[in-house]
Amino acid sequence: MRILAIETSCDETAAAVVEQKTTFGKIKVLSSVVATSLELHIQTGGVVPEVAAREQLTYMLPTIHEALEKARFNKDALDGIAVTQGPGLIGSLLVGVETAKALALTWHKPLIAVNHLLGHLLVNWVREGELPLFPAMGLVVSGGHTDLVWLNSPTDYRWIGGTRDDAAGECFDKCARILLNAPYPGGPAISQAALQVVGPVLPFLPRPMLHDPGLEMSFSGLKTAVYNLVRSIKTVDATYKATVAYDLEQAISDVLIKKTNSAIEHYKPASLLVGGGVVANAVFRDRLSTLENELNLPVFYPPLTYCSDNAVMVGSAGLMTRNVVQPQLLKADPSLGF
Ligand code: KG4
Ligand code: ZN
Repeated sequence: MRILAIETSCDETAAAVVEQKTTFGKIKVLSSVVATSLELHIQTGGVVPEVAAREQLTYMLPTIHEALEKARFNKDALDGIAVTQGPGLIGSLLVGVETAKALALTWHKPLIAVNHLLGHLLVNWVREGELPLFPAMGLVVSGGHTDLVWLNSPTDYRWIGGTRDDAAGECFDKCARILLNAPYPGGPAISQAALQVVGPVLPFLPRPMLHDPGLEMSFSGLKTAVYNLVRSIKTVDATYKATVAYDLEQAISDVLIKKTNSAIEHYKPASLLVGGGVVANAVFRDRLSTLENELNLPVFYPPLTYCSDNAVMVGSAGLMTRNVVQPQLLKADPSLGF
């Protein structure tokens, strides 16, 4: 099965052509195009929904055209069209959903509705070598979500834990603004600053809910702690900023790894699937590989290109779930969850 996939849940406009030869088999990427309006949002420090959606309208068709050209396919070679139904910004989602519906109807192709969060996990089928097995534990860590999810299969899953307030990515973004005056997305700026640290740093930021039983997490207190620290110091120099950035990466990773570890010990999955923009963080990736060795459990996380939003993840979820819907009935759903 070979499909065109469309992703427009936040500020990216992305299209990809992906292929899967056997059920739950390896997924091959034939093309992937991502256009972003990020530069437009830098002045405001975040994504402005109205601006993002207007940009996406202009990028949408050229992006699809480029994805098909790069894959060297025309529409006749496609077996379906997958699109992100939600969650995300309503204006942005509508651009992708309505475009996919129009194409599915005029090209007479099946339309596949995709949950963006599931895409972050199922993009792990794009790989050489060993593939993940079910039942699997999933951990999504993105700008808007921090969720632990139990998956019996790509279509049978349930939310088992996650943040009760800010997402881990949101915490990176807000702390980057407070500490470094860095624009969205703040994660890479925090990593960059943390690299300046020489020598060991004793943990000084809180690790919220680290020792609480259960799989709940919380990141808003961490943001407040960084805010209070920065406010309490007269001159926040580069060395101090680097030290806070360093401990912030450690604190967020400590919480994510501890809660994931507890979930794995309790549920005993056959593999761990991790995905989302925060998985681009080098410290967190290191901690995931340590966890893999400690637990002797296969841990799957995507290469950097497929951590942040892209259409390959949507195509992967489309191929894995084959959730075909009537175009007339599909509605963008900004609050779609697990
Ligand atoms: O998955 P994603 O691209 O979009 C959502 O679905 O939200 O995730 C974006 C998030 C942002 O919060 C961004 O700061 C974070 O991923 N991020 C990082 C890094 N790169 C991106 N966080 C920490 N370290 C990074 N290197
Ligand atoms: Zn995402």
